[in-house]
Parts: sequence; structure tokens; C-alpha cells
Amino acid sequence: MTDAKPKDPKFGANMNEDTVVVLDFGGQYSHLIARRIRECEVYSELLPWNTETNEILAKTPKAIVLSGGPASVNDPNAPKCQDGVFNLGIPVLGICYGLQLMVDLFGGKIERPPMQEYGRTTVHFDEHTDLFKGLPDDDICWMSHSDSAAKLPHGFEAIAHSGHAKYAAIRNKNRSLFGVQFHPEVAHTVRGTEIIRNFLFEVAKCLPTWKVAPFAKEMIAEIRRKVGKERVLCAVSGGVDSTTTAALVHEAVGDQLMCIFVDHGLMRKGEPERVREILDRMKLKAVRVEASERFLNRLKGIADPEQKRKIIGEEFVRVFTEVANEHGKFDWLAQGTLYPDVIESAHTGSPASRIKTHHNVAGLPEWTEFKLIEPLRLLYKDEVRKVASTLGIPPAITARHPFPGPGLAVRILGEVNEEKLVICREASDIVESELRAEGVYERVWQAFAMVGDDLAVGVLGDERKLGHIVTVRIVESVDGMTADWVRISDDLLSRISNRITNEVKDVTWVTYAISSKPPSTIEPC
Ligand code: XMP
Repeated sequence: MTDAKPKDPKFGANMNEDTVVVLDFGGQYSHLIARRIRECEVYSELLPWNTETNEILAKTPKAIVLSGGPASVNDPNAPKCQDGVFNLGIPVLGICYGLQLMVDLFGGKIERPPMQEYGRTTVHFDEHTDLFKGLPDDDICWMSHSDSAAKLPHGFEAIAHSGHAKYAAIRNKNRSLFGVQFHPEVAHTVRGTEIIRNFLFEVAKCLPTWKVAPFAKEMIAEIRRKVGKERVLCAVSGGVDSTTTAALVHEAVGDQLMCIFVDHGLMRKGEPERVREILDRMKLKAVRVEASERFLNRLKGIADPEQKRKIIGEEFVRVFTEVANEHGKFDWLAQGTLYPDVIESAHTGSPASRIKTHHNVAGLPEWTEFKLIEPLRLLYKDEVRKVASTLGIPPAITARHPFPGPGLAVRILGEVNEEKLVICREASDIVESELRAEGVYERVWQAFAMVGDDLAVGVLGDERKLGHIVTVRIVESVDGMTADWVRISDDLLSRISNRITNEVKDVTWVTYAISSKPPSTIEPC
């Protein structure tokens, strides 16, 4: 099957890789399924639930996974994939809603029982071949479902059960169709990775050959071929995505690339200087634009988070286009768009709703005259970090925490003003440096401080004083799609708090954010 693979369905990836298609029914963990599969070194793509069977076939998948989702199969408008998906002779694994859909489409019955299951649940594995090979008799799995299978269709059998779900996992052995009511992709399912590995390697007979190392070489050749003698622009921010994009393009077309760094005044402490250093070190031709006043003026009086994002996106495009025009004609624009951004913008019409307008996606419409190069569009953040390492980009960049395009503006609640910017910047710097000193920085996804307009009474010196409340947020995450707050030591928290109140002017209180994503997001705006 691998030999028949069409040319170039996955720009930059090894063409002979086994592929697993994940059909996205709008579940919170759909991305995580694709990620887990890639962690097993099998290439995986997330496609909308209503993708035509022909399009799925064009990927020549070795297996298909149906994700979870918020709908009930009994709703008249429930998303349902084409029946053809089950007739391709390819193993299918339905997860949560995916299991329910399989049961429904094959003529079984899905009901909403009085007792529902959420969270950690003991599941009993009733047999130990294929999906559950090598597993104990029972283990903790993560359940999150309102509906359950009440009657299985002909040809299906139960292979696991739990306290409240008779059919915690099902199988149609002859057709190689499997369903699990729990979520093997989330870390709380103790043997989740083993179950996914079993599906990939025992059931679907995939080969673990997806590696990101050859990616850079193939991508450089591809960019060179596409760009020819034309010129490329690339906005850089000092983050790993834009730096890696610039490095790939530079490697491909050398001085036909020009980088632009727009300092919008919403950067972390020392960031503009750091970016200049990086650009110099990598010998990238770059223009730096100081535009803080422009951005801050436009943000005056704006408290609504989405409006702030839109303004920053638009202003960025304006500055960028002006500078580009001053430097002659550019045909191409290189962007560090990642796979989650691509999915978010491509899956319009999927049940997943847009949570925030991300800066690089929001800024695009006015740039339509550029041809786009997005070399990282099939990669997740950790994969980009690996590509960056293969290009010799130093750990100081690859290990840097993600930083949003709109910068500190999304960490300032309410209007962005100079006072709150200074507090946010200085306090964030303290958080980062304390984490570095403790060796914790690289183990967490993001760590920063946020500030709003609420004031609280403190005692500074011998005086009562109204000052700002700074909230510290430290989260761990695999890809930013879900996140949990980090349980750091009391000592470290206490040091961070003391330093912020002692060193940052007009701060009287420090709090620690202990909500996960969902229901919160990572950034407060
Ligand atoms: P949220 O706040 O939505 O963020 O949980 C998820 C991840 O995305 C980053 N983020 C952004 N990145 N432009 C970006 O380039 C943005 O507008 C933006 N908003 C959030 C955030 O830092 C986190 O890592």
C-alpha cells in the first residue's frame, strides 16, 4: 500500500511514511490523538469529520481513528462520517463519540443512562489480544461521556467494561473495527499509549518510520524549487517558529530572504536586543522597526481582548507592508504557521468553535498578493523544536517558552498602558529567572505574570498603599491545546512573590493561577 502513495500529499514529510487519518468530530482531544500517534513515529493527519471518503483514500491511510466530540449521535444534526469509511478494509478505532458513531451507523443503540462517567475510572479489560495486548486485567482510564452504547450491532462484541459502561471497549474482529469509550490519548489513561501503540502496530501493522530529522533537508529543497530567483520576506519575533522558518528559507535561497522584526513595544524584557543578537548570529539580513508608540496609541482605551488582538494584527500588517514596500518587490512571504493553526482555520464548519483569534491567522487577508511559504504547517511545536536543533539553532531559542504574537497585550487585562506594561514585563522576568535558577524553566510550557486593573491594599514601608494585583501563571502542556497549572514548591512561589512585591513598583499582592485549560485558557485575554 505504501508504494502506491500519491506524490506530495504532505509537503516536506517523507513520502513513504505510513499515515493514520484522524477524523475530527470536534473533541477537545482530537489534536492529542494525532500527536500521540506521531509520538509513536507514525505520521498522522487530522481531517474534518465530513471529509469525502475519496479524499481520505488519497492519503492512503493504514488506519483511521474517529475522535471524540461534544454531540450526541441521537441529535438530528449530529456529525456523521460517510459509511464508506468502514468499507475501505482499513482498521478503524472509534474513541468516545467515535465508538458511539460506529455503534449507531452499524445499527446498535446509544442511550443516555442515568449514571454518567467523568474522570478517572477503573476499566476491566476482558481480553488481552490486539488492542489490549500486554495490559493488566484492569487499569485507570479517563472517561468523559454522557451517552453510552446500550446494544451492540451484529458482529460486534464487548472487550472491556467499567462500573457504569457495559461496553467500555468493543470490537468487530472480522472487519478490524474497534471502539473505546474512554480516551487513550490523555495522560490520565495510564496505559493509553500502549493501547494506541497496539492499535498502530498490532492491528494496523504500521511501521514506526516518521522522523522529523529528514524534514529540514526536504523542506529546504522544496523551498529552493518553489522560490527560484524570487525574493522572500519573513517576519521574525525571536521565537522558535519564526526563527526556524527564517533559517530554512535562508538555507534555501540565501540573500533572497529579508527578515523584518517589528518591535511593537509589547515584548518581554530584553527581547528586542535578543532578537537582534539572534539575527546577527544566524547572519540573516534583517530590518528592525521600532513601532511601540504607534501600537500603544492604537491600543489606547481598548479593553476588549478580541479588539486588542485585531488592532495589533492589523497594525502589524500595516507596518510590515510599509517596510516591505520600501525595500523593493517581494513575491513570497514566509510564515511560521504551525499545524494547530492550520487545523483551526481549515476546520471551519467543524463542531470545534474558535476560542481566540490567533495573531498570525488574523493578520493574513491584506497579504493576499504574497505567495505563502509555510514550511512548518504540518508540525507541532515540539517537532519544530527538533527541526530547529537539526538546523543548529541554539537551545536558547529552541527551549524558549512560546510567546504570543500580540505579546504582553494578552497578559494585561483591560486597557494596555505604560504602567501595566512595565509591571507585566518586570514581574514576568522575575518569574522566568526564578524558574531558570531552580532548573524548572525548561520543564514547563509557559511561565509569566499578568496584571489587570484591580487594586488591593498593602503595607509598603510603614504606609498603607493601594497597589496592583499580579497573578503568576505557570502551566505544563504538550501542545498548548490543553494545559494544567504546575505545582511548584512553596519556597519557589514565596521567592517569586517576595521579589515581585519588593522589586516591581506599585504591586501589593501576588496571586497564583490554579485553573487548567479547559475551562480557562493559557493566556488571560
Ligand atoms: P490560549 O491562551 O488560547 O493559548 O490557551 C494557547 C497557546 O497559544 C499561544 N497564543 C498565541 N500565539 N498568537 C500566537 O502566536 C496569539 O494571538 C496567541 N494567543 C495565544 C499561547 O501563548 C499558548 O501557548
